[in-house]
Amino acid sequence: MSDKITFTIDGVEVQADPGQTILQAASLAGIYIPRLCARKGLEPHGSCRVCTVLINGRPQAACTQPAAPGAVVDNSSEKLVMFRKNLIEMLFVEGNHFCPVCEKSGNCELQALAYRLGIAAPKYPFQFPIRDLDMSHPDVMLDRNRCILCARCVRASRDLDGKHVFDFIGRGPHRRIGIDTSARLKDTKLDVTDQAAELCPVGAIMKKRVGYAVPIGKRLFDEKPIGSEIENRQTP
Ligand code: SF4
Ligand code: FES
Repeated sequence: MSDKITFTIDGVEVQADPGQTILQAASLAGIYIPRLCARKGLEPHGSCRVCTVLINGRPQAACTQPAAPGAVVDNSSEKLVMFRKNLIEMLFVEGNHFCPVCEKSGNCELQALAYRLGIAAPKYPFQFPIRDLDMSHPDVMLDRNRCILCARCVRASRDLDGKHVFDFIGRGPHRRIGIDTSARLKDTKLDVTDQAAELCPVGAIMKKRVGYAVPIGKRLFDEKPIGSEIENRQTP
């Protein structure tokens, strides 16, 4: 007897292995659930809430919620899309995300989600924070004004690079990305080839001198909307 779990997403039957999350099972089935903190290869973190779905009518983070037999998952209702739009808009105004002058434009997952959800301009007032930049490292820069606190760099440095270069410091509105006991990025063990330098979804951690190697208009999400790589897995 198969030990597969069967459940539905927007009326489509999906199968999962025991222990798989809703988000993992959906992705394997060619169904895109928006996400920012989740990333293949990293432990789920469950912090951004962009992956929220309704499971049997209750909001849950799809990246941390295991698939359950018979679960009825809503990934596309108007109410849910509005919730995600609000979250994305709040992330935009909480930091300084000036897409036209950001080197990450076209490769930025936050920007790409805004496009996918049809957000032209946030309805909330911009906060224009003034947070520390760290340009001290020869090959990698850190701009905390663009950080969305997704913890990808924290998990990547700890679990993939084995270094623990990044961690959070401060609480509430003062929470920000910190670096290990060294005062500056240049004094850490961070290397430009580290996964921690690779996986930031926005323009907060970027490699130096390669920002315009691919011209604007030819970048990842200029060519195809975010999530299409998952949806294109769907069998016809
Ligand atoms: S620096 Fe980038 S990867 Fe790290 S927490 Fe901020 S947004 Fe996420
Ligand atoms: S992707 Fe699930 S909470 Fe961020």
